[in-house]
Amino acid sequence: MSEPAYIPAASVADLPPGAKKAVTLNGQEVLLCHNGERVFAVSNICSHAEERLECGRMRGGWIACPIHGARFDLETGEAMNPPATLPIKTYPVRIAGDTIEIAI
Ligand code: FES
Repeated sequence: MSEPAYIPAASVADLPPGAKKAVTLNGQEVLLCHNGERVFAVSNICSHAEERLECGRMRGGWIACPIHGARFDLETGEAMNPPATLPIKTYPVRIAGDTIEIAI
């Protein structure tokens, strides 16, 4: 399988530990999340009622939807509790110098 194409999403300085940042890349709304350990990239759109996740609470390895409280695993995108049942999309992340890149 060929290496996915990574594109710049943000600068490392824009995303300190505990921060989130919404970006639109190739027409897709992506939420960058630094959970204190590393940066994850997930869809910014909840799989339940298509609300944005960017104002949701992030703890450890999950982010919670601010509307009805479904939590999603930042690594896998799996829905961890109702009312969401479907996963959200996740994207590979890499750090290149001072830039956060994601494969999309
Ligand atoms: S819109 Fe996210 S849990 Fe309902």
